[in-house]
Amino acid sequence: MNTTELILGPLVGDLSHDSVKIWGRASGAAILYAWLFDSGQVKQAGKARVDRKTGFAGVVEIKDLQPDTWYRYALTLSNEGPPAASFGRFKTAPVPRQLKNFSFAFGSCFLPLEPDPGLTFQRISRMHGRASFLLMVGDQIYADLWKHNGLKDHIALDKEDYNEVYRFAWSNKHMREVLKNIPVLMTQDDHEVDNDWHWKDSNRIEAIIPWHIRLRRWLLGRPLVERSLTLERLRVALQTYWEHQGMHGPELLIPSTVKNNQVQLEPGKPFSFAYTYTYGGAAFFVMDTRSMRMRGHGKGEVLGNEQWLKLKSWLRDVNDEYPIKFVVTSSAFLHFLLGDYSLDRWSGYPRERNRLLHYLSEHEIEGVYLLTGDLHSGHAISVDIKGRSGKNILLWEFCASPFEQESNWLAWLLTLRWLPNKLWKNYKVHFVKGKFNYGVVNVNFENPENPKVEFELHYLDKKWKVKKIGS
Ligand SMILES: [Fe+2]
Repeated sequence: MNTTELILGPLVGDLSHDSVKIWGRASGAAILYAWLFDSGQVKQAGKARVDRKTGFAGVVEIKDLQPDTWYRYALTLSNEGPPAASFGRFKTAPVPRQLKNFSFAFGSCFLPLEPDPGLTFQRISRMHGRASFLLMVGDQIYADLWKHNGLKDHIALDKEDYNEVYRFAWSNKHMREVLKNIPVLMTQDDHEVDNDWHWKDSNRIEAIIPWHIRLRRWLLGRPLVERSLTLERLRVALQTYWEHQGMHGPELLIPSTVKNNQVQLEPGKPFSFAYTYTYGGAAFFVMDTRSMRMRGHGKGEVLGNEQWLKLKSWLRDVNDEYPIKFVVTSSAFLHFLLGDYSLDRWSGYPRERNRLLHYLSEHEIEGVYLLTGDLHSGHAISVDIKGRSGKNILLWEFCASPFEQESNWLAWLLTLRWLPNKLWKNYKVHFVKGKFNYGVVNVNFENPENPKVEFELHYLDKKWKVKKIGS
């Protein structure tokens, strides 16, 4: 008897106006079959073989779809058509540059903690089941939190461990329901590998977890193996990231990062999981702020040279064609928390942060919205940047975090309301909420000359409440 089953998924990843990628992970070697339910009939739409090399995860791409159209789909391990009741749904994107209103959800940091974990996902399904997509902007697993990662009291150390952490967190029934019915785009933060990890040098020869985390683990009597980050552990963590979060996403900006679904981690070679995509009249740049992050010898770097060059050319390319641009960064860019000794956000890398601000000013790039997570509190911040011609350029940051994790309830007190920088003025913190939350962004093109972007932070304060801010 064949006992192989689909243990994670299905989920719809990258979607365009005429195609989608459907992802699943099986418990063993299998063939993934994708199905569409069309005009009362179940039709096979494609298949893909999965094996141990990709942790039994794989993607079926379906092409030649109609733009802006609802479809019902299924993913199975059997070549017999599944019953209609088991089908999920997705809607293809509008044709590129079409100025059509849309809404998407975003958030970060999911650690199954509650007695019935996944409260935020339950609410997303109920209230935003028709969102155009969901952006998950980091900490989709917590590989290093030994009490809550499903590994029975140790941090993820090898491939089996990382696979198991994903299986444990992502088999949450509320999360699975969301991922089945809302297309999802993902990027990593630190906990996909280990807490605040980074490279020690720009050639990426040695990776490390910061001293304060090593000290804490030592004080807690954790074994030596949990106080270092070997290249092999890093490689398997990034490979497992690719298998769960990357392979169903858009094409990478640096394609040599992954060859034949195998992550290529070679010292000195360009590497990044960053990608771009568009949705109607909005363009998205999803940064990888982790794979190239370096701190040491008095230097610090977040993006790495190649990703930085890609970001610059993307900003120039989309500036006139797309009135709205979203830059997704797993680490907060404009926010500063008093007493943040870890220096793990962009505020710990002021030179590189100013480089981006300069670039926006120099090229007068308007309509940029930063989307971030990580902080275990949500916020909205805006600043004015002075453009080269003297024009005012408004830059926003919307943060949604955590879906579920210990919230930073002191964030409202510790978030600096006044943060001087010679490149901006009118630094304004509109709100901060240290509660379970997720964000919804409404993009409105009714006046094409002056499109509007509205951010709603949905947060759980005994009951669900909403904070709204618009541009
Ligand atoms: Fe987090």
